[in-house]
Amino acid sequence: HARRATATAHANIALIKYWGKADERLIIPRSSSLSLTLDGLSTTTTVTFGNDACDGADNGVADGADAAAADTDTVAPTSGDTLIIDGRRHEGTALQRVAKFMDLVRRMAGIDTPVRIVSRNTVPYGAGLASSASAFAALAAAGSRAAGLDLSPRGLSRLARRGSGSACRSVFGGLVQWHAGHDDESSYAEPVPCAMDLAIIVIAVSTGQKKLSSRSGMRRTVDTSPLYPAWIDAGERDMREALDAVARQDLEKLGEVSEANALGMHAAMIAARPAVLYWMPQTVAALHAVEAVRTSGLPAWSTMDAGPNVKVLTDAGHAQRVAQALRDRLPGCAVQVHRRGPGVVMENG
Ligand code: DP6
Repeated sequence: HARRATATAHANIALIKYWGKADERLIIPRSSSLSLTLDGLSTTTTVTFGNDACDGADNGVADGADAAAADTDTVAPTSGDTLIIDGRRHEGTALQRVAKFMDLVRRMAGIDTPVRIVSRNTVPYGAGLASSASAFAALAAAGSRAAGLDLSPRGLSRLARRGSGSACRSVFGGLVQWHAGHDDESSYAEPVPCAMDLAIIVIAVSTGQKKLSSRSGMRRTVDTSPLYPAWIDAGERDMREALDAVARQDLEKLGEVSEANALGMHAAMIAARPAVLYWMPQTVAALHAVEAVRTSGLPAWSTMDAGPNVKVLTDAGHAQRVAQALRDRLPGCAVQVHRRGPGVVMENG
């Protein structure tokens, strides 16, 4: 088989959110979600099978020189796999999670060879914007191809889901729906036709803030938040209304339902015990700025994920004006426009 493959995947931002699992092992969500894959925020990953995988210029890492910077998680590595992200070798929990994912790929392909994984992000890893979605979508694509598997787009989406739920959506470009389903086979993403040229503006409120992972944040919300069932109930109607708004090219309706869905998710998080609180003072300032920009007549609706940054839904035709209006109101915040991005792309076809 191929032994080596390279794939690129882009981050996605959900308009109707995924928050909470029905099955933790298979990563089956409690609700369906809808997202936009973004340009500019990507992960490119090369997977090489075999013990002789440490070969070369394009892998370009001096392991010795890098040792001082190595990930110092206390968990011992469980496999012979090697993981290098942005030139830095990772061990501990990051390697464990990736090795466990590669075990799935190995089982599917009937092989037991260790792998070397070399990954590069266009946004620094750990900055709060590099996402597990682009990482696991790229790893699923490169890993399965290097293992000799030839998965359908749906099969690839299901595999990526096992690494990180939101990764199943990054297999596809543009607007994407993840059908919650009820088992491994029925839980996958697929593209949603959308005639609107949607854009997302990222307001970087804070980078480098050590946050609770979405994995544990969502578990705690499901287990302890009295508001969680209400958010899930509302989510079903939100999804119907969002898809209807997309079909009618009604950006205002899509924006309203997206903003309400995200704020409702955060309300449920904050009601967890103890609270899952990602908000910072500048988060609130940014939410008010988005509302002010909207009141001034521009299309702009906010959404937030498992961190303090605020993202803004608009369309490509208004994005630069909205971004400038936000910069004027939020001095000190980096404001970046992202248009819709492509699905997973393999190097050499
Ligand atoms: C708030 O996909 O990172 O961004 O499945 O545990 O890896 P795991 O979680 P993850 O959660 C993303 C949550 C979110 C909302 C969303 O992207 O839908």
